[in-house]
Amino acid sequence: MTAPADAGTLPAPRTPGTYRVAMVCLGNICRSPMAHVVLESALVDAGLDDRVEVESSGTGGWHVGQPMDERAALELSVAGYDASAHRARQYDASWLDRCDLLLAMDRSNLADLGGRSARVRLLGEFDPQARGAEVADPYYGGDDGFEEVREQVERAADELVVLLRARLDPLADL
Ligand code: 4NP
Repeated sequence: MTAPADAGTLPAPRTPGTYRVAMVCLGNICRSPMAHVVLESALVDAGLDDRVEVESSGTGGWHVGQPMDERAALELSVAGYDASAHRARQYDASWLDRCDLLLAMDRSNLADLGGRSARVRLLGEFDPQARGAEVADPYYGGDDGFEEVREQVERAADELVVLLRARLDPLADL
């Protein structure tokens, strides 16, 4: 696979040799948990799961403690992922200090995180097919929305794995 044009743009990890990525949406029952599960699976496939930790949260607290939305979980399980471990969490500002990279699903989530910075980005920046696009909220829509979310987060996860591998290379900062 060829490296994407912006390879090497991930910020340096806070702890060398490890990386912590957080996916953030509104409710933490649809988009960010789908992105969380898909990236985690891609990292397992790439042999990077022992060095990269993935988390997710929602800026709203309505669903804290709940499993993934059943439409989101079905979309993932039909595609071969295990969505069963998820329990919703709420984002707070401490995540900004703890995580190496926070990936918002849409511009409203991005604003709630304080706006774009080296560590706070839109997940869609890593989607080579629709660079910079938002991952639209599927909660009030039909099942098509969940398929679209899965396809978007799979494309972004593939690129993130390439960038994370490069970022974790001990020679990256020499
Ligand atoms: P998510 O979707 O942000 O992708 O988890 C939503 C889930 C719940 C609500 C809104 C969006 N809600 O308003 O309860």
